[in-house]
Amino acid sequence: MAGLTSSTIGRKYAMALSAMFLLIFLIMHLSVNLLSICSPSAFNAASEFMGYNPFIQFLMQPILGFAVVFHFVMGFVLELKNRSARPVKYAVNQGSANSTWMSRNMIISGLVVLAFLGLHLYDFWWHEINFKYIEANTPDNGRFWAELHDKFADPLRVVFYVISFVLLGLHLAHGFQSSFQSVGARHPKYTPVIKTLGTWYSILIPAGFIFIAVYHFLTQ
Ligand code: HEM
Repeated sequence: MAGLTSSTIGRKYAMALSAMFLLIFLIMHLSVNLLSICSPSAFNAASEFMGYNPFIQFLMQPILGFAVVFHFVMGFVLELKNRSARPVKYAVNQGSANSTWMSRNMIISGLVVLAFLGLHLYDFWWHEINFKYIEANTPDNGRFWAELHDKFADPLRVVFYVISFVLLGLHLAHGFQSSFQSVGARHPKYTPVIKTLGTWYSILIPAGFIFIAVYHFLTQ
């Protein structure tokens, strides 16, 4: 691990691995949350499994927590290193001619997602910890859907969530293909396929989350 994070290439590699783990997490997270639209009872059953299964709780959740923190910390480290390596801005910075807005502003879209995560973890994760371990309530496995549905009664929260999902989409639009490049997956035949997959991923995943937030708001 120390070797991975002691050189710029190692850091980019480690950053890409954490990104790929989070890309997979987002697919799983969206799939479980989509159940809240199709069937409250299926969503309650899935949430009960995720919330009380020891493998998920004591192995996967800490790994996820580590990946999230690592990704943000390493993102800042790489940004600071980039800036100090280039104290004077390029004489010829033609903006969109050299790069996309998304690639130049990963730190901004990342910060919005970080702010979203702060509220989101307070809304759901902290609520769970409080329910289970601090208040030590007896398990009530029918509560998950109602808790989620109630959260989206507040229009301000829905607006903030939706804006964050749009920024998440912009972050993913560059991040998806960039993570493959950083692990050395470059090939004239496969790189265009990875780019197309990245475009679809960065549209469909945030659109799915937006749909869930808006659906629960409109069905209050
Ligand atoms: C409408 C959209 C979303 C809904 C309804 C939703 C719902 C939830 C719920 C119910 C939990 C609690 C899980 C538990 O019982 O611990 C949770 C946890 C979490 N969510 Fe979301 N989520 C949404 C979008 C997102 C997005 C876009 C991200 C990442 C950018 C995200 C990241 C997380 C993380 C890191 C956790 C903690 C994981 C855990 O406790 O296992 N969520 N979310």
